[in-house]
Amino acid sequence: MALHTPPLRQKNPHLPFGDHQHSRFYGQDILSVNQFNREDLDYIFGVAAEMQEMVRRVGSFDLLKGKILANLFYEPSTRTSSSFTSAMERLGGSVIPINEVRYSSVSKGESLPDTVRTLECYADVIVLRHPETGSAALAARYASKPLINAGDGIGEHPTQALLDLYTIQAELGRVDGLTVTMLGDLKYGRTVHSLARLLSRFNVRIHYVSPEILRMPTEIIQELKEKGVAQSEHAHLEEVLGETDVLYVTRVQKERFSDPAEYDMVKDSYVITPEVMRAAKEEMIVMHPLPRVGEISMDFDDDPRAAYFRQMEYGLYVRMALLAMVLGKA
Ligand code: ASP
Ligand code: CP
Repeated sequence: MALHTPPLRQKNPHLPFGDHQHSRFYGQDILSVNQFNREDLDYIFGVAAEMQEMVRRVGSFDLLKGKILANLFYEPSTRTSSSFTSAMERLGGSVIPINEVRYSSVSKGESLPDTVRTLECYADVIVLRHPETGSAALAARYASKPLINAGDGIGEHPTQALLDLYTIQAELGRVDGLTVTMLGDLKYGRTVHSLARLLSRFNVRIHYVSPEILRMPTEIIQELKEKGVAQSEHAHLEEVLGETDVLYVTRVQKERFSDPAEYDMVKDSYVITPEVMRAAKEEMIVMHPLPRVGEISMDFDDDPRAAYFRQMEYGLYVRMALLAMVLGKA
């Protein structure tokens, strides 16, 4: 069935008592990192830092009491799904989990627009992960409640990029002036598509290291070039590791390959080990959106530069901030 594209619905037309219409991002969708400028980022990270402090001091509080989140996942997830659940519950709200659409009416053939229109009858905000690029934007057009993109195919993963940037700031104290190296599957990896775009708001240098068939899409390189970002492409990590402040490692996205032989050819292209990291600076960080499937050896996990587990925790605070903001409570 062909879907027609309706005009954007007015979000949250009826303001519930106690919601602050003037809150930044109140009632808004979060679909792409392109919607955020530096001032927005400062604001989000300020709220995230307050959330972090609040969790440290008291664990939870009832800012979103009575609010309901629908967590709608058409693709597997551990971190995004459970951190949104944790974020909502730590703020006193509750969650409708649809983590396996196979057991929902999607398996009877219900369309994405109808599924979203159903869930917004019961929830105040929808988090959506879906295998098709553009699906979040499409779903948002049918929803009058805020919709948050939790990964749309090879498109974007904006909340991941926000937590990635928060991690960089928290760990290294700044973003301007840094050299960021993205490693692995830059073609299908939605997290690097969002992160590269978000970093273009800053004065950074970006190196892309990947096998030939997994290079960063030319449209993204072009987009960043127009913003004046210094970028370079490489096949070998050694060429840039020594000058790297943030090494952002990615998994080769097996599920996006149509030819399994092609996946086998590139799956073990790069492996981060303590030996490899001897050539890196002492003060730098290694990040990964996770899950990892062999591209960072567990032997490296105890190195203070290994920031990927801390990165997951920062994600909780950023998602708490985003939920509070779109629901008019921050
Ligand atoms: N979890 C991230 C994503 O969903 C990265 C990955 O799966 O490799 O995009
Ligand atoms: N980083 C991330 O999106 O992890 P999940 O796929 O487990 O949600």
